[in-house]
Amino acid sequence: MRILIVSLLATALTAIVAVGFTYRDEPSTEGMTVPQYDEDGALLRPKDFHTWVFVGASIGLSYSEESKRSGPGLFHNVYMQPQAYQYYVKTGKFPKKTMFAMAVYKPTQKASINRQGFFEDEFVSLEVALKDHEHFDEGWAYFDFGKSRDRATAFPKERCHSCHSAHGAEDNVFVQFYPVLQEVKKAEKAHDEQ
Ligand code: HEC
Repeated sequence: MRILIVSLLATALTAIVAVGFTYRDEPSTEGMTVPQYDEDGALLRPKDFHTWVFVGASIGLSYSEESKRSGPGLFHNVYMQPQAYQYYVKTGKFPKKTMFAMAVYKPTQKASINRQGFFEDEFVSLEVALKDHEHFDEGWAYFDFGKSRDRATAFPKERCHSCHSAHGAEDNVFVQFYPVLQEVKKAEKAHDEQ
């Protein structure tokens, strides 16, 4: 009898732990904008990214040592789907079909009451990073939709993926430049240390 109770308890415990893990590993991403492809496999321009979570901005980031630039360079505003962000908060991972949209703007200055500093002017392009192992061998693929193109094909690996996988802090993503995602990491660390 005692053995039976112990084994029942053990089974119940395993079930609870399993459910717990499943829940922890796989929070729902229901309602998330997922990538849409046309018949040739090109990605369609995500239309609603302005409503996504804004994870960070940069201006004039450059990867070369020499600078020929006179102004501050281009603004980059980076967004991710809200459901992908929630998943990241819960698991510290980016779910399948995560998309980062990077809106690029030219800088301008001295308009209206502005006398110092720069603000965003003309929209230049929308670049997208997409995690989709079903479509791309490398997992992540990279696209440039320019100002208004409806569709874009993935760049070859050497153009974008190589730098992202070598230097992006986490899973190809430049988390080191996104304060909103770093906050998540810090909170996670503090939680683990408790
Ligand atoms: C030499 C390194 C390098 C190369 C090559 C590169 N990127 Fe990036 N990328 C970066 C850095 C650094 C950031 C961080 C944020 C920023 O630029 O504002 C970034 C951020 C991004 C983001 C935002 C999401 C993320 O992954 O952090 C997108 C989208 C993006 N790049 C698209 C592209 C595309 C498209 C190409 C190829 C045409 C490309 N990148 C090539 C360095 C690179």
